[in-house]
Amino acid sequence: MLKKHEIGAIVQQFYFGESDGAKLVQALPAFAPGQHEKEFCKYWKQDEEKHDRLFHGILHEYALVPSGFNVLFEGLFGIAWQCVAEKDWVKCMTIAAVIETIALEAGIYLHENGDEPVQKILEEIIPDEKKHLAFSRTELQKYVNLSDNRIKIKNVVKKVKILSCKLGKEKKFNNHDIHVANMAQTAFLSDMEKLGIHYPNIKNKNGYWRNIFLEIIIN
Ligand SMILES: [Fe+2]
Ligand SMILES: [Fe+2]
Repeated sequence: MLKKHEIGAIVQQFYFGESDGAKLVQALPAFAPGQHEKEFCKYWKQDEEKHDRLFHGILHEYALVPSGFNVLFEGLFGIAWQCVAEKDWVKCMTIAAVIETIALEAGIYLHENGDEPVQKILEEIIPDEKKHLAFSRTELQKYVNLSDNRIKIKNVVKKVKILSCKLGKEKKFNNHDIHVANMAQTAFLSDMEKLGIHYPNIKNKNGYWRNIFLEIIIN
């Protein structure tokens, strides 16, 4: 099991991510392609607000005073806001799939390795994150073969890669981050394969730990 302060460090990242996630989702209905999508976004936003409240409720268990957002997530949300500003549904669903994949894998990791308070709330949160990820997957399936959408998806993933490379060189990540990033990469690459988009899976080469979500220099 993880130590209290290690659980707290991950809980803090969720704490920041959930409230920002709700704000992002709130911006989506303005350019969602149909009624079904608009409706889903309403529940999606409510789910993220619920997650925010649940994480808020256990902060005291870990003596946490939230001090800052995880730099990777901060960067990913920055990319997400760019996609929202472009009012581009396919780009938004791509970055949503990235963020929800990492959130889900981090949730599973924390559920397996955390203590009772965090496990209890994750049992409510994980099914929601699975639902959100399934929605963005389905939306990408729907649009992947239309006009230049394949290029849009690749461009968003490329931005994520450039971000992870930059942050990795600043040595911002720990072993838990690496573990979650590897689980998330496996899941994400398999989803991309299903869309017919292929990325090479490169690891441990030339002194770098290469991953879509993290790129770290190994000393
Ligand atoms: Fe969430
Ligand atoms: Fe979510």
